[in-house]
Amino acid sequence: MFDLVIRNGTIVTAADVTRCDVGIRDGRIVMLGEALPKGKTEVDATGQYVMPGGIDSHVHLSQPSGDGIVMADDFESGTRSALFGGNTTVLPFCLQQKGQSLREALTAYHALAEGRCLTDVSFHLIVTDPTPNVLGQEIPALVEDGYTSLKVFMTYEGLRLRDDQILATLDAARTSGALVMVHCENEDAIRFLIGKHEQAGDLAPKGHASSRPVAAEREATHRALSLAEIVGVPIVIVHVSNREAMEEIDRARKRGALVVGETCPQYLMLTAEDLDGDGWEGAKFVCSPPPRDPESQAACWQGLEQGIFDLFSSDHCPFKFDDPEGKLNERGKKSFRWIPNGIPGVETRLPILFSEGVIKGRIDLSRFVALTSTNHAKLYGLYPRKGTIAVGSDADLALWNPALKRTITNEDLHHGADYTPYEGLEVTGWPETVILRGQVVIDRGKLVAAPGSGSYLRRQRSNLTKAV
Ligand code: URP
Ligand code: ZN
Ligand code: ZN
Repeated sequence: MFDLVIRNGTIVTAADVTRCDVGIRDGRIVMLGEALPKGKTEVDATGQYVMPGGIDSHVHLSQPSGDGIVMADDFESGTRSALFGGNTTVLPFCLQQKGQSLREALTAYHALAEGRCLTDVSFHLIVTDPTPNVLGQEIPALVEDGYTSLKVFMTYEGLRLRDDQILATLDAARTSGALVMVHCENEDAIRFLIGKHEQAGDLAPKGHASSRPVAAEREATHRALSLAEIVGVPIVIVHVSNREAMEEIDRARKRGALVVGETCPQYLMLTAEDLDGDGWEGAKFVCSPPPRDPESQAACWQGLEQGIFDLFSSDHCPFKFDDPEGKLNERGKKSFRWIPNGIPGVETRLPILFSEGVIKGRIDLSRFVALTSTNHAKLYGLYPRKGTIAVGSDADLALWNPALKRTITNEDLHHGADYTPYEGLEVTGWPETVILRGQVVIDRGKLVAAPGSGSYLRRQRSNLTKAV
């Protein structure tokens, strides 16, 4: 009757913690109950938490990042790393180049992903060139085809949109039912401050943090929220780093806006001090928005506990450190301005939140599952196929040993970067066995799946855009 039965585990969903067996057939959960009949295969989960596989809805893989710069993960290494960290689905970005149609961009990214993924994947579209054709023709058609989320940038020359372009993109999203994610930092303010640093010869990595202050993030967050209110559309504010941006989200919600906040491990675990390491070591921590200070870390924890944040994602954006195509490229060795932005984290996201959040008593198990899986599925049109343990859902599961103590070290990780920002961090709890659509893909820490075992997911509209 069952292809696989997971027995004796503690089942954790965003709603409940219960003891029962999980019966799986044809890749889906078909029964939950006590003492289920024998399956063709059995996994004993005694002493383990059985959770929905993690969904990381903010991941960059094989994304071009400037002249001569190469991202350290492609779809194979990035999804392998994700799997080892307890994820069964990741949502990478498909970047539209200026002058390119969204369809052309998608064709290129599908070619990069095809046959290589070890988790299930689905693309968000980064809109950099919102032409009338992109807005009027492509976005509505692509939403129908299951590409139901977009990202826009308020920073980075070459990627940023002007306010009129953001308004037009939000309006296209409103009429088609796409959900828009916004990277909120004020590019003009950042350019101004980078200029000041350069005039002063202040070029070391720590200048990255001081040229991207909280005020630049807060102002852009306020503006993005205002633009979304004007259009009347829900938005996601991604990678929020500090209290002032959180307060903007809170105020917008109190005015009745539909806003989702996302934060990431770097804003809980790192600070701007990390960018001030010996020599150019600080380059390892250059990401945007930058890590802030201990008060901001405490604020982000509060946001996870109290609901300002519904999403906890990695913003995995890996570059090698000691490499001419990475952080220490020829120009990056001389000025922070040319250090590629982004840090790896897809494999460490879940263990860090489990250890620092659940084990340390800041959040409970169900909140952990909501923040790392269920809310991502609901928000990005994958629920209830993904993100929960229920009859009919895909059997995407992570079996956690909650007592396993590990010291995070790059040697043990599976990403393509040559470092982890969390080197030496001690964590308790790790997902030792991972199951993707009913197949054991990580068996007690050993990979037993091949590239191509992950599928591409066509998504429904977000529960949030359906609501308006
Ligand atoms: O520094 C970061 N976060 N790089 C990734 C691109 C982005 O803005 O998400
Ligand atoms: Zn961003
Ligand atoms: Zn990102």
